Amino acid sequence: MTDNARQVLVRRYVRRGDDGKPVETVEEMFWRVAYNIARVEKSYGQDVNALAEKYYDILTSRKFFPNSPTFTGAGTPLGQLAACFVLPITDDMGKASTGIFQTLRDAALIQQTGGGNGFSFARLRPAGSLVNTSAGQATGPIGFLRVYDHAFGEVAQGGSRRGANMAVLRVDHPDVEEFVTCKTNEHSITNFNISVGITDAFMQAVEEDTDWDLRFPDVTSPKYKGFSGTLEEAEAAGIPIRVYKTVRARDLFNKIVTQAHHNGEPGVLFLDAANRTNPVPHLYKLEATNPCGEQWLGPYENCCLGSVNLSEHFGPDHTVDWESLRQSVVLSTRFLDDVVDANLYVPAVPQLREAALRARRIGLGVMGLADLMYHTGIRYGSIEGQEFAAQVIEFVRYNAMLTSIDLAKERGSFPAIAGSIYDPDNVTWQPPQPLFAYTHDWGRPAIDWTSVSEGIKAHGIRNAAQTTIAPTGTIATVAGCEGYGCEPVFALAYIRHVNDNGKDLQLTYTSPLFEKALTEFGLDDDERKALIEQVMADGSCQHVDAVPEELRDYFVVSQDITAEEHVRMQAAMQAFVDNSLSKTINFNAGATVDDVSTAYRLAWKLGCKGITVYVTGSREQVVLETLAT
Ligand code: CDP
Repeated sequence: MTDNARQVLVRRYVRRGDDGKPVETVEEMFWRVAYNIARVEKSYGQDVNALAEKYYDILTSRKFFPNSPTFTGAGTPLGQLAACFVLPITDDMGKASTGIFQTLRDAALIQQTGGGNGFSFARLRPAGSLVNTSAGQATGPIGFLRVYDHAFGEVAQGGSRRGANMAVLRVDHPDVEEFVTCKTNEHSITNFNISVGITDAFMQAVEEDTDWDLRFPDVTSPKYKGFSGTLEEAEAAGIPIRVYKTVRARDLFNKIVTQAHHNGEPGVLFLDAANRTNPVPHLYKLEATNPCGEQWLGPYENCCLGSVNLSEHFGPDHTVDWESLRQSVVLSTRFLDDVVDANLYVPAVPQLREAALRARRIGLGVMGLADLMYHTGIRYGSIEGQEFAAQVIEFVRYNAMLTSIDLAKERGSFPAIAGSIYDPDNVTWQPPQPLFAYTHDWGRPAIDWTSVSEGIKAHGIRNAAQTTIAPTGTIATVAGCEGYGCEPVFALAYIRHVNDNGKDLQLTYTSPLFEKALTEFGLDDDERKALIEQVMADGSCQHVDAVPEELRDYFVVSQDITAEEHVRMQAAMQAFVDNSLSKTINFNAGATVDDVSTAYRLAWKLGCKGITVYVTGSREQVVLETLAT
């Protein structure tokens, strides 16, 4: 483990006493996590110690890490293990348990445990509309978003983590224009990421250049009293709908894109794409995601994320060690299913445990995809790279599903399986398909999706959702990955300025995989040093002639990849992730609003469930976990 990794680990994960001093070693920390997760298997008649040792091995070999809250929470009195939650907000101040201030209370309690929250504000009546109780005017979703933001600003999260939150507003909500610009000043609403919930109908209106209605149920209608559903549910219930304003769809779309070009927000979430693969449509429609956008959840649901470290699954001679990857996926899937039982959630919000046990969602993903691509010599972003990423993620999903079926055989399916897409009596789930036909053979063992369909029919499945690719902001640092989650590497070499008691200390970093490749290529120490100094200028080796062309071809970093290639990588992986994935579409500084618009449309057409963009240099305050940790 590198010094940096160990420091982060000790700072963030190791338990401390009242005096702030560590009360456990790093090894004891790993054992605490392994043992306390394995412990729940006692009720399934398993040998807890034997399993705990397996978990300990996979953690200490850095082949798999769960999300940070599992490290900080396992075996502690707090015991909250999940990174993300979604809470419902209905259009009342707090009469209902889902009302505005009731949910704020629930969210604050979750924040204290280190969990992030996502909310849809779409059910709140527009600003200025009538409030019966006070005969006054409604605050509206953006007003309440500010209230939430202030409240969360004051709530320090458990451990060393501060709260991330996501606010979603539908594109047909009358206040959407205000929402789109509510973070123009990047110093406002700092505790929230914001995303517009986009529908297919809206994208079609953009394509066809037609008008777009901003609508909400008529709050003065007697039928609206006590109603707490969505716009669509209001329509279905015969509640009159009022059109507040009609805009040109393209104008609204351009507003969103211009704002995102300006400082990366709002992101967009494609609601229909997400709901097309909603595993439990009989329970709810998906309306919101967690703070970083990779996890769609229903009301009160959480997801414990975990990531297999692809940089620890290298095979010899630039190959992939598929068998070890398979074994890691099998064990990690079991680990995450155990987390669903081991999690104490937040006892003061009992709906959380109920929702978690009903669908038993888990979110297994990867980190270090870029490392594996450096190792195998495949360029991130290229067509070959898109296929490689798809093949890897397909393999993870396939083995996660087989394991989840085995777990169902052993201990039962998730309780809400009847009526879901996995209902053994009526399986409507369709095996995933690649976006384009594969043409490469990287030695991957054959995949037979029919065995999954047959398995579900025979035994059901343990988890309503199995895969998600998280940002892995902290765990990838601890695991020593060069690439976070499924992202490309950010820079091959850079200088980091650290304030050391008032003195500016310069620390340099060089990608170990890059150095290794240069050495293997026969470059000596001096040649390497000279060349790396040039790479430090902007982190890329593309303009450094001394780098052998063969290496330059695949040692690409984020800025070397076009926005279109970023989107195509996202879409290629999305095809095999049942939830979603955390991915930023990076644009170079000269990108135009039109470029951003093209990327949004492409993402929608290719079936992505959302898109987040960042134009280099567009934010005053760039928080790069890569450098900050
Ligand atoms: O690497 P680590 O497990 O710490 O977390 P991550 O993969 O970077 O983030 C996973 C999820 O945790 C995010 O999508 C958020 O939902 C949540 N999170 C948060 O709420 N607050 C943070 N400061 C970081 C992450």
